[in-house]
Amino acid sequence: MPPCSTHNARSYAFTTKCHIRSENSPIHGVPRETTPCGLRDRVPLTELLLLFLFCHPFRQRREGVIVTFIGEIMGTIRVENLYKIFGNKPKDGMKMLKDGHDKQAVLEKTGMTVGVANASFTIETGEIFVIMGLSGSGKSTIVRLLNRLIEPTSGRVIVDGQDVTAMSDSELVKFRLHNMSMVFQSFALMPHQTVLDNAAFGLELAGVDKEKRCQRARETLEQVGLAGWEDLYPDQLSGGMQQRVGLARGLAVDPEILLMDEAFSALDPLIRTEMQDELLKLQEEHQRTIVFISHDLDEALRIGDRIAIMEGGHVIQVGTPDDILQNPANDYVRAFFRGVDPTNVISAGDIVRDTHPTIIVTKAGSLRTTHEILSGSEREHGYVLDAKRRFLGVVSSEGVRNALEKGLPDKPLSQAFLEEADPVNFDESMQDILPMVATSSWPVPVVDADGVYKGVVSQNRFLRTLHRTEDANQGEGGEQ
Ligand SMILES: Nc1ncnc2c1ncn2[C@@H]1O[C@H](COP(=O)(O)OP(=O)(O)OP(=O)(O)O)[C@@H](O)[C@H]1O
Ligand SMILES: [Mg+2]
Repeated sequence: MPPCSTHNARSYAFTTKCHIRSENSPIHGVPRETTPCGLRDRVPLTELLLLFLFCHPFRQRREGVIVTFIGEIMGTIRVENLYKIFGNKPKDGMKMLKDGHDKQAVLEKTGMTVGVANASFTIETGEIFVIMGLSGSGKSTIVRLLNRLIEPTSGRVIVDGQDVTAMSDSELVKFRLHNMSMVFQSFALMPHQTVLDNAAFGLELAGVDKEKRCQRARETLEQVGLAGWEDLYPDQLSGGMQQRVGLARGLAVDPEILLMDEAFSALDPLIRTEMQDELLKLQEEHQRTIVFISHDLDEALRIGDRIAIMEGGHVIQVGTPDDILQNPANDYVRAFFRGVDPTNVISAGDIVRDTHPTIIVTKAGSLRTTHEILSGSEREHGYVLDAKRRFLGVVSSEGVRNALEKGLPDKPLSQAFLEEADPVNFDESMQDILPMVATSSWPVPVVDADGVYKGVVSQNRFLRTLHRTEDANQGEGGEQ
């Protein structure tokens, strides 16, 4: 396999990046660029096997495969009654599960292992969907069922209307090459190839010509902050940098779906946070559907739009972090979230309520009509909006009455606006808005990124939410 690079990358490493570890290279003296899928002992056997599965069918068909970059946004994954039982008679295991036995009982009775049991959920286009659960709960199995690196025992996986479980070998190869990329925990880089060649690997499998794949690989390396490192070898990079190469390789084929199995778990905490930020930044630039497996709740809360919690092969609960935090399905889920500060997770948008009168200035912009509106309402405050419902200010019944008494009915309503009635943003956490809510004499207005009014957060609402999550954390039924 010809490399993208043409000059001696090793000498480049010595002359320009001399701080990088190179003399202790475990492959010192071994000729580079020998095996296209050359992997050494540092890559665990399972990943090796997965990569083999990934490239093997293609190697017989590579001439025929053409990369097509899909313009429209896609990437919806529907999982329907998916099962994976490891063992000789998986259908017997399924029957036991359907009869109400659990994973442990199936193992004891049949010696077979339940990987995934009757999983059904939908992952929406463009979301970061985090799968969490204890070790052995079935996270890796389920993610490998999505691209059929593991064959399901039963059930279906539908991606953008296409039934992945019914695909022929050749369809599956194309699908994996163009629609879904995978990023592994152990990076699974090829040690004999440069950073650039590693990043271009998926494109090479897809038969993209050298010039184009090198250009694309350079672009994705730049996206992940590795411009200038293209000619080095993986063992000359830190762990965090190696994982960036893994990410660049996944992104290079421009997949609509990225599967990441504990992709950041091997990194130390600071680098891990950096990589999470990198992923969020990339997601902002180009939204993909990302299925992200993690053990780490902080990570899940930080990057996940929704979280699925797995236990013993079952998907126990799927929801937004605050959904789960406020209504955990059982003690197992509750235990996962114990200790989480809900004010970090729940945002103003999650608790906003449209409980107060609104006054649209173009229609009812006079003091007199505002006075009418507020008199007919039980509320003391009204929220003034423009014709596009963008927030302008807050008025109180008393303030409007005073202005009227001063004989200023034709003056603009803005004269009665309360001072310092600033809105908070929809995305701000409860913790962020706490000072405003605590000190404000009226419910705090909430707006979206365009300044459009969404409702208010009152002190009462704020405290009730806190009370409910506390109850949920303590395993008691809370107020709804
Ligand atoms: N190839 C296999 N053969 C037999 N059993 C398997 C195989 N792969 C996984 N399992 C079993 O399936 C169950 C789910 O494993 P899986 O690797 O999906 O767990 P996980 O949630 O990813 O765990 P971890 O957090 O440790 O990575 C486990 O009980 C495991 O022993
Ligand atoms: Mg796993």
